[in-house]
Order: sequence, then C-alpha cells, then structure tokens
Amino acid sequence: MPNPVDEFKQARKQVKALHKAFPRADYLTGNHSALPSRQAAKLGLPEDILVDFKTLWGLEGWTIHPRYADLVIDDVIYRHGDKGKGGLMAAYKNAIAEFKSVVQGHLHAQAGVVYHANGKDCVFGMQVGCGVDHNHPAMNYGKVYAAKPIVSCGVVYSPKVAFVEPMFM
Ligand SMILES: [Fe+2]
Repeated sequence: MPNPVDEFKQARKQVKALHKAFPRADYLTGNHSALPSRQAAKLGLPEDILVDFKTLWGLEGWTIHPRYADLVIDDVIYRHGDKGKGGLMAAYKNAIAEFKSVVQGHLHAQAGVVYHANGKDCVFGMQVGCGVDHNHPAMNYGKVYAAKPIVSCGVVYSPKVAFVEPMFM
C-alpha cells in the first residue's frame, strides 16, 4: 500500500464503482468501516468531529446502518457478523440462537447455507464469505492463517430458501 492518502483515493474509486452498480443499498457497518470512529474514540475524540460515512464516500441513495445493527427484511436478519456467536458455522449457530434465518459476513473464510428445523419451523444461517483479494497487501494480516477468504455472493429468495455462489477468481 502506498500511503493512507493514496489508499483512500483507491478505495474511493472502488466504492464509486459499487455505488454505480448498486445505486440503492442497505450498508451494514462492520468492524473495518468503523475504524475511523474506533480510532477517534481511542484518542478520546467525539465522533461528531468526523465526516459521516455516507458523506465521506458519496453514498446518496444508500442507507447506512450502525455497527452491530440487525436489519430485518421479510423475516430474515442481516448483520455484519461481528456480534452473537462466532467460530465455525457461526451463521448457523446465530440462526438457532435467534430462531430466525440469519445472513452474515465478517468471517472471510466461511461461506454457505445450513438449515435448522424443529417440529414447527425451519430457518437457515447463511455465511456470505467476502469480496477481498487475499493476495493484496491489505490482507497481509491473514497470511498466518491456513484458511483463506472465500469470495462469494449470497441470494435470499425467502426466509426458507437461500443460496451462496462461490466465485473463484
Ligand atoms: Fe468484519
């Protein structure tokens, strides 16, 4: 990575492309996108002195949800994935804990849909992997782990039917 200023410029280009492809979106703030406010808090600075996320990245038409938010659409919970249960099969465990279908990211090396049923209902836990290139220097922190990111895309048809499509690049 060249330096923080150039990295920001490169990131802005990528965000612009995503915004063009998806002019309307719900964005769930994660641990990485919360870094500026986390750093400000560490220094004892109020979050109010920061430019808000939507303005910073030019995201007109997007709804930005705060960190740890649960967005519920058609009885399916969408969350970043850095809360609730973690470890292997985290989305599945969260679906059981909520007894509601759960879609989450955060855990780069997991992807898939696992169902759980009792006598009355059936829910799924969907782990959507991520969209990162693990060979990029920004991902150097993951070099020590054997499991690598799975680039994938999740599609939810209903609270009962969902698919994850892995994408090998
Ligand atoms: Fe995350």
